[in-house]
Amino acid sequence: MPEADRWGFSSLAIHAGQEPDALTGAVVPPIYQVSTYKQDGVGGLRGGYEYSRSGNPTRTALEECLAAIEGGVRGLGFASGLAAEDCLLRTVTVPGDHVVIPNDAYGGTFRLFAKVYERWGVQWSAANLGDLDAVRAAVRPGQTKVIWVETPSNPLLGISDIAGLAAVARDAGALLVVDNTFATPYLQQPLALGADVVVHSTTKYIGGHSDVVGGALVVADGGLGERLTFHQNALGAVSGPFDAWLTLRGIRTLAVRMDRHCENAAAVAAMLVAHPKVSEVRYPGLPAHPGHDIAVKQMRGFGGMVSFRHADGEAAAIELCGRTELFTLGESLGGVESLIEHPGRMTHMSVAGSELEVPGDLVRLSVVIEDRGDLLADLSRALG
Ligand SMILES: Cc1ncc(COP(=O)(O)O)c(C=O)c1O
Repeated sequence: MPEADRWGFSSLAIHAGQEPDALTGAVVPPIYQVSTYKQDGVGGLRGGYEYSRSGNPTRTALEECLAAIEGGVRGLGFASGLAAEDCLLRTVTVPGDHVVIPNDAYGGTFRLFAKVYERWGVQWSAANLGDLDAVRAAVRPGQTKVIWVETPSNPLLGISDIAGLAAVARDAGALLVVDNTFATPYLQQPLALGADVVVHSTTKYIGGHSDVVGGALVVADGGLGERLTFHQNALGAVSGPFDAWLTLRGIRTLAVRMDRHCENAAAVAAMLVAHPKVSEVRYPGLPAHPGHDIAVKQMRGFGGMVSFRHADGEAAAIELCGRTELFTLGESLGGVESLIEHPGRMTHMSVAGSELEVPGDLVRLSVVIEDRGDLLADLSRALG
């Protein structure tokens, strides 16, 4: 097993939790497609496995790898990103608690707080997480248990100062939870910056091939890891063996894919900045982005997501989304096929009419690994 403090990111991604199989030497962990395990006498468990909701060797491989690449002590694999969020919130909040969420959160995360947890007595308020004073002002002393941040955020690509927020959370006695889906641990390591919990939709870059839905939590504290593990089993929305295996396969190439995503997205952002049909480009790699300096400080690269506003308004933005050839019109991100979408009518429909509503002229791109020239030509042609 590679040691987390001695090996680089890709060595961990390829080897952590993935010792060659003891029986055959297979270099890829087997898919243990099994629900239960023979016991050697009552309670005589082999390797601690008794039932696959509680534990499964393929999921263990994924969970050890996730912990290693995020620099945490415990990783947990779930059936989706929202299942991971739900498990976390049921572990660390009770009715009466309060949570600060970003005013530009992913629509599904907002829906979970506003339409589900609020009914169970967990209160929330939205704040600009890029403004530490605004976060301090949103904190309710003694009641705020979680500060939740996405950086870069979905879909506005806002950047928040993780180390600064960790200090605010510490003063408030709250946990800092970072949704690291857009950055991935290759580009940004929130736990090293003081965060308590990292959340992922592994459906995105970590799985990386648009063929699996999954989620993850990684924590820095062993006690919290134990409580989460208890709830993961008690609630049951675990990653199945084949999904865990696919996700692990994606992780092995995460670094090389992210490098290409970053290069291609930077080129697309530069092209859009110069385009007369584009009124604003949101990409943290652009020096004019308000969070650029913080992004430089806390990220290795700026990622593959680019959002922009169409100069001709909402109808033109919607029409553009149906006019590209190589960029496929669809939700999600982080696979190997570039995607285009209209957040207001698609991924973020659930925030319509709320303080998190996104501009109607906004278009979001997941710029991935096709040939750069083809991607640029496709967008130029579609923009006209
Ligand atoms: C930033 C972010 N967090 C969480 C989620 C939820 O993940 P999942 O769709 O895997 O449940 C998504 C999904 O798009 C997301 O973009």
